[in-house]
Amino acid sequence: MCGIVGIIGREQVAPLLVDALKRLEYRGYDSAGVATLNKGVLDRRRAEGKLVNLDNLLKEQPLSGTIGIGHTRWATHGAPTVRNAHPHTTPRLAVIHNGIIENFAELRSMLEKDGYVFETETDTETVAHLVTRALDRGLSPVEAVRQSLPELRGAFAIAIMFKGEEDLLIAARNGPPLAVGYGDGEMYLGSDAIALAPFTDTLSYLEDGDWAVLTRNSVAIYDESGMAVKRRIEKSAGTAFLVSKGNRRHFMEKEIHEQPEVISHTLANYLDFSKGTIRTDAVPVDFAKIDRIAASACGTAYYAGLIGKYWFEQIARLPVDIDVASEFRYREMPLSKDSLALFVSQSGETADTLASLRYCKQQGLKIGSVVNVKESTMARESDSIFPTLAGPEVGVASTKAFTCQLATLASLAVTAGKMRGTISADDERRLVHELSEIPRYATQALKLEQQMEAISRDLSQVKHALYLGRGTSFPLALEGALKLKEISYIHAEGYAAGELKHGPIALIDEHMPVIVIAPYDRWFEKTVSNMQEVAARGGKIILITDSRGAAASTLKTMHTVILPDMPEIITPIIYALPIQMLAYYTAVFMGTDVDQPRNLAKSVTVE
Ligand code: G6P
Repeated sequence: MCGIVGIIGREQVAPLLVDALKRLEYRGYDSAGVATLNKGVLDRRRAEGKLVNLDNLLKEQPLSGTIGIGHTRWATHGAPTVRNAHPHTTPRLAVIHNGIIENFAELRSMLEKDGYVFETETDTETVAHLVTRALDRGLSPVEAVRQSLPELRGAFAIAIMFKGEEDLLIAARNGPPLAVGYGDGEMYLGSDAIALAPFTDTLSYLEDGDWAVLTRNSVAIYDESGMAVKRRIEKSAGTAFLVSKGNRRHFMEKEIHEQPEVISHTLANYLDFSKGTIRTDAVPVDFAKIDRIAASACGTAYYAGLIGKYWFEQIARLPVDIDVASEFRYREMPLSKDSLALFVSQSGETADTLASLRYCKQQGLKIGSVVNVKESTMARESDSIFPTLAGPEVGVASTKAFTCQLATLASLAVTAGKMRGTISADDERRLVHELSEIPRYATQALKLEQQMEAISRDLSQVKHALYLGRGTSFPLALEGALKLKEISYIHAEGYAAGELKHGPIALIDEHMPVIVIAPYDRWFEKTVSNMQEVAARGGKIILITDSRGAAASTLKTMHTVILPDMPEIITPIIYALPIQMLAYYTAVFMGTDVDQPRNLAKSVTVE
């Protein structure tokens, strides 16, 4: 996953940049590069593969200068070649970028009409030319960036260095993390504290929408509206560890916030954003030859699989049986050799899921696993691995692994649809585009944090809660209830909204909060009827919806959470974020051990 570093210092920066990039290696990458400015010369070196290649190149062709930027690239738009490696340059600047510029195609054709010539297939190059165009129109670097940023759509972290400006670095963040490091007469930029550990332990983390102007002796940070803002300056302690909490109180909080970035990397493994197609080469299974999927998993991974069932059946017309693994392994289900046995697991080690996998193997089925730990037993014992690229997940309650499992399953369902001929080329382009928008919507969903915290204050006062949803929001209701009970110890149950009247309605009174997950989709009206049943009995409704849903429902709610309107396929992924924040903040108010709740384990290797 892309890594960013920038240094305005006093020593020669090229070796320091490579050293910092080495500390970002754990994120994964397939090419790397650095650029420096020296006495008016802007120059760069880039290499495919591991950092040792860049190191060797720099030994043969050194770069001088006390200001520079460095990047490890994890390819999304365009192959991992030297040409596509960052930094990208124009005669006036060099830029590095992590994330996805969603409207790159639009921007590119506009810039090409204005005479700007592109050398690569990357989305990043549009940023380089966009800011260059603003400079060519006579703007200063700071103004050029200020005016260009609102034109970029998507989730990104960027850093830019300008020819002729040897005491200036500009950075911006909207999604992927970016930290400013403070030194003495030196300033730094890095994707995380680990990258900057040898130089400084004094950091400020940019917030979404922030952009920063660095010189050797100053840092100015502005928010989205251009207002100068102060961001907390903190001492980073855990930099010796590869996995640290950064500036967050808990790993769970950090992992919730990592989602725009890790989902975008997971998606890039399955989708070709440049072409608007799925990457069939990433999927070593011919779904056209499969007549059924027999899936199993545990806990949160099971709920991810349940949502996957809706996608596979709707998009690819492929029936999916899904069980909790502890039942599947014993229930002697008749299995056809033309079925794919599919397992979903963050750790790849969960005992029941692994036993189910081995059972299916004995029955002669082909085995596919959606796993986060590539070296795990399940990964090793599977015929095909569908990796989730969530990175190490430390919080026991799964968050980013869940949404990356969903991103993987949605991508696989589209792949299966294409292979089985149930979707057209136009459908494929539309679905790939819709999936590519997840990181941006996820970034917007995270902005609901304060509201979710306020709602959690109320929720922390109750003893029981119900979660309701229909369609793909039903498994999400199950996940919401699991998340709440896991970390806050409040008793919670999730139900298909239509099942309310078959039992749980007996529990509704004025003490019962009911969290209704209801995007304005084809099930919305039916869910509103169920909400009415709750309201009529005095239940307190917390409605999570979009602007169309909020306008269409006239019911009195205790709280209404409004997400942006978005394509139906991505709703369970984006709606997961407020659900996670609700559980997180409720647990914080309850004072529980959020990352290691009582009685639970991250990886359950016993039956
Ligand atoms: C444990 C964890 C859950 C997780 C489940 C399955 O119960 O506490 O968060 O969902 O195991 O784990 P897996 O590693 O197979 O996804």
